[in-house]
Amino acid sequence: MISKQQVVQAHLAATLTPGLEAEAFAPSNIALCKYWGKRDAELNLPINASLSVSLAHLGTRTRLTHADDGRDRVWLNGSEQAPDTAFSRKLLAFVELFRAGRTLPVHVQTQNNIPTAAGLASSASGFAALTLALDQWLDLQLEPAVLSAFARMGSGSACRSLFEGFVQWDDGVRDDGMDSHGVRLQATWPELRIGLVKVATGAKAVDSRAGMKRTIETAHLYQSWPLQAAADLTRLHQAIGDKDFALLGQTAEQNSLSMHATMIASWPPLLYWTPDSVAAMQQVWQLRQQGLAVYFTMDAGPNLKLLFEAADQASIEQAFPGLEVVAPFRA
Ligand code: ADP
Ligand code: DP6
Ligand code: CO
Repeated sequence: MISKQQVVQAHLAATLTPGLEAEAFAPSNIALCKYWGKRDAELNLPINASLSVSLAHLGTRTRLTHADDGRDRVWLNGSEQAPDTAFSRKLLAFVELFRAGRTLPVHVQTQNNIPTAAGLASSASGFAALTLALDQWLDLQLEPAVLSAFARMGSGSACRSLFEGFVQWDDGVRDDGMDSHGVRLQATWPELRIGLVKVATGAKAVDSRAGMKRTIETAHLYQSWPLQAAADLTRLHQAIGDKDFALLGQTAEQNSLSMHATMIASWPPLLYWTPDSVAAMQQVWQLRQQGLAVYFTMDAGPNLKLLFEAADQASIEQAFPGLEVVAPFRA
């Protein structure tokens, strides 16, 4: 098995020249066909290809500065995270892949404008922004595809956050995973809107990583997941090519519910929904019955992401007061 360290090492020059500071932003992303399950947990190589849309201004901004005090320190949304927290350890372990034993102490200030660890893809924007900031800080000048493959090793979904718009993450076949990265699709969809229904924004009890591991290990239902994902990926390409919104929405909603079905069939059972999540789903179905073209998708968390088009925005905002709306293809 190849380690993350070996993969990164192969792309680094013998000497690194860190700048004094670097800063980068990456958007969060919402998968329309989900990544759920790894064939390689060290490199975060997926069992199935996935397809997402990036969330424009919603995401993470990360700043790296040379540590004058000589020690690594981490701040999230302005508050310092102790070195022994899972947050700091995971983040600094990723930084260490790039420093590779050299003494380059760093201060990391990261800001999420989406809730952290609540199923709104903070790990995606978080590791994408960190990868971009490291590329700048160490003046690596790596290709976007390489940066995407590196971000994947921090969090799988992060490889899609290196790009705007619709992004496909190919599963790839190589052992080092360098062919498993995000690829931006050419298509645009200016009328597409994504609405965030924030049911609960606290950190989830079981993170995505542990959730997918449990599903693979305990749910027989998981066997049908790769087939569902492959069929949905084909349908999404058709929907995007034809600008067929109903097909896009139906496919995304069914894909998400199929993924949740595998979670619920795990042991111990994994149900990220609260009664408020279910009430919001039922409201979406009711609005559809009334003729509104609105669909939802959900990740490993209780929150819903609504899919609709600009013409219906006012009606949907009325039905979901306080909805945060993103226009992924509008500058
Ligand atoms: P989410 O649904 O928000 O992606 P995950 O369980 O997948 O939740 O991942 C949450 C983890 O992502 C956090 O515990 C932390 O390790 C990491 N993370 C979140 N935000 C950042 C950030 N800005 N920088 C680095 N890592 C982050
Ligand atoms: C349900 O990318 O957060 O949001 O690779 O272990 O960090 P790790 O997991 P992560 O999983 C995301 C799962 C999902 C679906 C998706 O975004 O495709
Ligand atoms: Co995540």
